[in-house]
Amino acid sequence: MTLMMASRMVAARSFGVVSHLSSMQSPTPLSVRQLSMDAKGFASRLVDAGLLRSQALIGGKWSDAYDGKTIEVHNPATGDVITTVPCMGQNETNDAISAAYNAFSSWSKVTSVERSKCLRKWYDLLISHKEELGQLITLEQGKPLQEAMGEVTYGAGFIEFFAEEAKRVYGDIIPSPLADRRLLVLKQPVGVVGAITPWNFPLAMITRKVGPALACGCTVVIKPSELTPLTALAAAELALQAGIPPGVVNVVMGNASAIGDALLASPQVRKITFTGSTAVGKKLMAGAAGTVKKVSLELGGNAPCIVFDDADLDVAVKGTLGAKFRNTGQTCVCANRIMVQEGIYEKFVDAFSKAVQKFQVGHGFSEGVTQGPLINEAAVQKVESFVKDATSKGAKVVLGAKRHSLGMTFYEPTVLSDVKSDMIIAREEVFGPVAPVLRFKTEDDALRMANDTNAGLAAYIFTNSVQRSWRVAEALEYGLVGVNEGLISTEVAPFGGVKQSGLGREGSKYGMDEYLEIKYVCLGNMNSK
Ligand code: SIN
Repeated sequence: MTLMMASRMVAARSFGVVSHLSSMQSPTPLSVRQLSMDAKGFASRLVDAGLLRSQALIGGKWSDAYDGKTIEVHNPATGDVITTVPCMGQNETNDAISAAYNAFSSWSKVTSVERSKCLRKWYDLLISHKEELGQLITLEQGKPLQEAMGEVTYGAGFIEFFAEEAKRVYGDIIPSPLADRRLLVLKQPVGVVGAITPWNFPLAMITRKVGPALACGCTVVIKPSELTPLTALAAAELALQAGIPPGVVNVVMGNASAIGDALLASPQVRKITFTGSTAVGKKLMAGAAGTVKKVSLELGGNAPCIVFDDADLDVAVKGTLGAKFRNTGQTCVCANRIMVQEGIYEKFVDAFSKAVQKFQVGHGFSEGVTQGPLINEAAVQKVESFVKDATSKGAKVVLGAKRHSLGMTFYEPTVLSDVKSDMIIAREEVFGPVAPVLRFKTEDDALRMANDTNAGLAAYIFTNSVQRSWRVAEALEYGLVGVNEGLISTEVAPFGGVKQSGLGREGSKYGMDEYLEIKYVCLGNMNSK
């Protein structure tokens, strides 16, 4: 089935059009004539905008795998094959690296004002295609359309922010200890960047890396997740339309380990930036040692969400819902352990589960849906095994804890009470719509439990005490802390973890540092006339 057919089917469903065309097979894209009116709008907008891309981008040219191999991209809500994309490996990656390397010599010399203008144009194009990009995200990733369009706004925001930051890569002049010298600090782009991105935010995790990289004058080879390459390709198409020169942004996909190995082995790649699992992050870090590359890693979390007795219950419930169920629980910053103080425990579990019960699970294109499918069968099996472990050790099922009647990879929003710290669900990221609620007695207990993990990405606290907010936020061993707020990600603030949750920061002015080298220049003999 072609991308066009699947797009048509989903669009038809989303706009309530009864489509009898869903069973048709066609080797070539359907003509716009064959589509129903509303679906026609969706597909033709994508075609007109050039956003239906199913080839990789190397040196400004759309390219198949050299051996013709392809991989299927599925719609997780239906299991349908949306389209195929090239299954690339070492050779194509090496060519993408060469293209990026060649482009670096000119892109790094383009003035920051010009780079800024290109990025701003890219931002404008992303925003003007917000609906189409949102539809692509829903199609290949499954998240509800509203949330997908929210991701486009969020993702594009990184491009806008870094378009502005491009103009602010300031150096320094250091007072010299010797009268005849002048000491300067220059900031220069690191070079070619390998950006390896995950499926949970098919756009935002790319723009968060590529925005600052390009702003600094770096060029990139992106390897998006094979599960969600279409949004990456559409974003790359828009980068070309924005006037970003060929070779500055390259996209390859396919054999993840062959591509990763090629990026690691190449001395021309000076930086690896990765968002994904801690296990893969450790391999990349070790692999980068061979050529001593810079690395930034945004890895897994195990976020505590601590609700104190003195919290405002409504604020705590609303904040915890956001922190737990965004993207159907599939984010690294999702609350993984909801730790509630004993005095408010019962009330919280009751109010929280009543709110969770109101969630609507379904296809991301259906009106009112708040929870989409999980990304694939393996993700559901992981959730099931964590829930089984917890219930076998005494956790109580308040809600859900089973697959949804819609089948496929839909899982019921779940609340478990009486969860204990030694259960797998409290030790590892569940990455699904399961809220495990633990109980604690004192602030010290909460801090001990919260910090008793190798992860250190996000943490949340709910309290009405200003003093406690400061005290606990300072004592939490995490890179991000939300106080009375469950949705804290923004392009203007630094995102990143401590401990085994990663290295480096993305977003904000700090996100620029990851793509810059500091060069010290000493001017001597400055007193001669
Ligand atoms: C992630 O899950 O890695 C990113 C989440 C975010 O940007 O908020």
